[in-house]
Amino acid sequence: MTAKVLVTHPLVEGALELLERHYEVVVGDGLRGAGLREALVGVEALLPLLTVPVDAETIAGADRLRVIANHAVGYDNIDLEAARGRGIWVTNTPGVLTEATADLTWAALLALVRRVVEGDVLVRAGRFTGWEPTMLLGVGLQDKTLGVVGFGKIGRAVALRAAGFGTRVIFTDTACQPGSLVDLGPISARCVALEELLRQADIVTLHTPLTDETHHLINEERLAWMRPGAYLVNTSRGPVVDEEALVRCLAAGRLGGAALDVFEREPALAPGLAELDNVVLLPHVGSATRETRLAMARLAAENIHAVLQGREPPTPVVRPAKD
Ligand code: GLV
Repeated sequence: MTAKVLVTHPLVEGALELLERHYEVVVGDGLRGAGLREALVGVEALLPLLTVPVDAETIAGADRLRVIANHAVGYDNIDLEAARGRGIWVTNTPGVLTEATADLTWAALLALVRRVVEGDVLVRAGRFTGWEPTMLLGVGLQDKTLGVVGFGKIGRAVALRAAGFGTRVIFTDTACQPGSLVDLGPISARCVALEELLRQADIVTLHTPLTDETHHLINEERLAWMRPGAYLVNTSRGPVVDEEALVRCLAAGRLGGAALDVFEREPALAPGLAELDNVVLLPHVGSATRETRLAMARLAAENIHAVLQGREPPTPVVRPAKD
């Protein structure tokens, strides 16, 4: 019997060719909750988006499920322990979105420190009446310090791009020894403790996965450690930042501004956030290039194909306890 694969949402064109050649593929129109649980009956492989909670109840009811292939590098939407316990593989899409996410991080960072969005709004509103020496002054990046929180693939790719701007890099990561230097070729980065990073950096950029340990990693107390006028960039996961505390801090003028591609209760925004001028707000588009989204979907499909063929998937997150 042909195995059944469930894809929760329509994906970019060409994404599912491999799966469609071998399996019965059902593409939902934004499945989640009870609709997802119902659709999962008899399904052997699930391909969800990062916005789809795959919780213990959903996993418990999925009678034939063998693999959950998340269409994302993050996997905080999936109950990993429940999957492990039921003998289900969980996979993600690391690597293929590193460069796109690092590019978007710099796009957001540059838009923030050079006030690109404010400039666009001003011109569209007909308020550009001619060149002025003091109009929309931003901050230069040369000889400033970028603090990278989380030094995995994406954090390193963001750090590497700093070489082109003459910006120093410090970083923090659970896997590094404070004081140690990482040589990235055109640039080296020094590992420091989180507190030191927040106290020294002119711009802090977040690249940690969302876990119990990183939930509200940037809270009221740690925001207060940041330099007056410093900037915060978040292209990782919204709940890594206490968004209400951030709004208070920005409204009080303590920080220079924030660029956020992710939000704590996505797609909702913390009250007051959208009213601030010193923020750049993006709709979670870190990996949104045509090439990257196709590569992510294809990697998720390869993960599914491998498991259904009885092979180890290329990018596993969880190995089943009893496979
Ligand atoms: C995007 O946020 C991802 O985790 O792939």
